[in-house]
Amino acid sequence: MHVIRKKGWELPESAATDESVFLRRRELVKAMGLAPAFLAASSLPGFAAADPAADPTADLYPVMQNLRYRLDRPVTEEKWATTYNNFYEFGSHKQISGAAQALKIRPWTVTFGGLVEKEMTVDFDTLVRQMPLEERLYRHRCVEAWSMAVPWSGFPMKALVDFAKPLSGAKYVVMQTQADKETMPGLKEFWYPWPYTEGLSIEEATNELAFIATGLYGKPVPRQNGAPLRLVTPWKYGFKCIKSLVHITFTDERPVGYWEKLQAAEYGFWANVNPEVPHARWSQADERVLGTDERVPTLLYNGYTEFVADLYKDMKGEKLFM
Ligand code: MTE
Repeated sequence: MHVIRKKGWELPESAATDESVFLRRRELVKAMGLAPAFLAASSLPGFAAADPAADPTADLYPVMQNLRYRLDRPVTEEKWATTYNNFYEFGSHKQISGAAQALKIRPWTVTFGGLVEKEMTVDFDTLVRQMPLEERLYRHRCVEAWSMAVPWSGFPMKALVDFAKPLSGAKYVVMQTQADKETMPGLKEFWYPWPYTEGLSIEEATNELAFIATGLYGKPVPRQNGAPLRLVTPWKYGFKCIKSLVHITFTDERPVGYWEKLQAAEYGFWANVNPEVPHARWSQADERVLGTDERVPTLLYNGYTEFVADLYKDMKGEKLFM
């Protein structure tokens, strides 16, 4: 693979191989005079159909791609992104995609609490239909030094923050994954600090890159990737991208996430990607590209410096990169 080292968003969208599939689909939609939602994803190569009976939001996808977010590398093949996963609730190894099918994703509610105008419990299917859906091609860099590039569908996290109406004193957003002992065998491993919890500062959560994914590869997001909704923060290590959200709380206190609680010397709150700051036990200088044998250099903020560097310019004393 030839990796071009330019800012991702300067490159033509055609730099992403699988993108031809997206373009064909868009052209077809245009030619037919139809909104994308009316075009069955199954009618085009590379897209297996979502089962509308199994997922009541299947009709929403595919959604239009936001061309502002571009890649400098090919899109990872769907089979890799959906079979090589981290979801410790289903096991502390990568092959959890089968076990994760036990996740019950309907009915699914999300609570909004803490420093908000009014606490709310909202049904996911109602929520997602109120949100401005789009598709974004994003890089993903795991703290374990592997990476992928995938088409997420979903909406800006800012839209979710606006929906929640936080009070002016709210400084952080804390998110929690469902913790169901019946369906999640990982929860028996009592030394892990369940439920999986992660947080962002309000400034990060409302940064244009912060995204709530509800879809992947033009279909509802699979269970193993965090159905029905998960966080995507492409400039941070992947452990911040908390899956299968059920609770969203606004606070004035910095939360301690799952990994930080487990091993504070190795995982911190900010967790921004930086090739020059090694993990306590390995280098972060380069990364293995999922589905290939290649290693490519890791980029500061995973290549998203122009979008996010300002967030941290006055935080000299903070451990921004662990
Ligand atoms: N969210 C929950 N609830 N549980 C997890 O174990 N793993 C994190 C993150 N979100 C994790 C999680 C890590 S370490 C990574 S790299 C990404 O999910 C992996 O996302 P993917 O499986 O969709 O590639």
